[in-house]
Amino acid sequence: MTNFDQNALFRAACAAREHAYAPYSGFRVGAALLCADGRIFTGCNVENAAYPLCTCAERTALCAAVAQGARQFAAIAIAGGRDEDCAQPCMPCGGCRQNLAEFCGPDFPVILSDGIHTLGQLLPGVFRLRQD
Ligand code: THU
Repeated sequence: MTNFDQNALFRAACAAREHAYAPYSGFRVGAALLCADGRIFTGCNVENAAYPLCTCAERTALCAAVAQGARQFAAIAIAGGRDEDCAQPCMPCGGCRQNLAEFCGPDFPVILSDGIHTLGQLLPGVFRLRQD
């Protein structure tokens, strides 16, 4: 799927952000992952009193998608921050970039509030276990 509505996907990320559980940081994040078959999986950050166990929104969405059999992805939108309007771009953390790179190539579109970035721009020199 190369044609998709970037604004609609960003709105889906904003809607997913409503479910964020972020009592410790107050930093609420939502993500909407569009599959090649048109399905959209959403996720939000889920924090924990044991801080290292916090889960990012992107990873929540990615794991939900893979658990439902999806492995081909067309784009992801991410919305987050402490302000309700999500105007500031919420950059995906390094771990989430690497998680996305497990399934998505360098041209994979990452939609933030300031427009489209590619995974290759966000994560040059991605770690690969195999070179094939
Ligand atoms: N967070 C995400 O959900 N995604 C990211 O890519 C960066 C950080 C969350 C984790 C934590 O709940 C909060 O934002 C503050 O770090």
